[in-house]
Amino acid sequence: MTAAQKSVQTGAETRVLAGKPVAERVFERLKPRLAILGEHGVVPGLAVILAGDDPASAIYVRSKTKAFQRLDLRAKSFHLPASVTEAEILELVDQLNADSHFHGMLVQLPLPPQIDAHKVLALVSPLKDVDGFHPENLGMLLIGKPRFIPCTPQGILELLDYYDISAQRRHAVVVGRSTIVGKPMMALLANKWERGNATVTLCHTGTPNLGLHTRQADLLIVASGQAGLVRRSMVQAGVDIIDVGMNRIADDSPKGYHLVGDVDAESVRGHARALTPVPGGVGPMTVAMLVRNTVLAAEISIGGTPTP
Ligand code: GUN
Repeated sequence: MTAAQKSVQTGAETRVLAGKPVAERVFERLKPRLAILGEHGVVPGLAVILAGDDPASAIYVRSKTKAFQRLDLRAKSFHLPASVTEAEILELVDQLNADSHFHGMLVQLPLPPQIDAHKVLALVSPLKDVDGFHPENLGMLLIGKPRFIPCTPQGILELLDYYDISAQRRHAVVVGRSTIVGKPMMALLANKWERGNATVTLCHTGTPNLGLHTRQADLLIVASGQAGLVRRSMVQAGVDIIDVGMNRIADDSPKGYHLVGDVDAESVRGHARALTPVPGGVGPMTVAMLVRNTVLAAEISIGGTPTP
């Protein structure tokens, strides 16, 4: 097929899948649930544990707590020094598990190297685990009975739903096997339900010829952490692309950097059918799903049904 034919087939315009209106829809739909919680005297509360001085983590935590404040919900961050011991973090998690003011809790990753993150995440009460990283919640997702679903992959499904992009019976290729995005994304897309039922290929750093696989994708989710990894030559015309990347590129702007995704956005423009922008695509969805998961945790705390 010639480039002109491809451009006719896809339409010249690549649709930009902005996250903000989708996040607003999520917040709007939470209003009746918040009203019912209010009748029980419950205002959802989130505790965030941040250890160390990673500047990106500090920005993520601020944007999470700001979203809660904007919606008149409660969020408190607990900032621990980079030198914190594992015992100290475990002690704080224990305290927050027992504190009924906080319905949800998350531990911002990465943790300093002296801390075993698996041990910390496993101590978070599975009923407060709004990040969905506890082995019990990941297991429930895998068996197709999800409770708390990790925020970024859940937000991607919400975004696809808003823009009427179905995964049903399509070939979805996921790049990146993290527990935060890639692996839960794979399960959500493969599970037999209205937002899944896709054929899923998972690619990672052990995949010898990445382009061979990404070129087969109808729906491509890229969460590799490598700036501009996916280029035009690696995707077929008309593909729908979700770019999860948030890579800092140093520049001489006042901030000192700008953000780029894992997809070379310029090169796929006019070739892909749809693409999420960076920033402003997946990022707002992660925060919106954190709010929704915390509302769910508050509902569970008063005996509500634990379904997302
Ligand atoms: N680090 C990068 N993404 C995330 C996330 O979604 N949750 C937590 N806790 N840490 C992260």
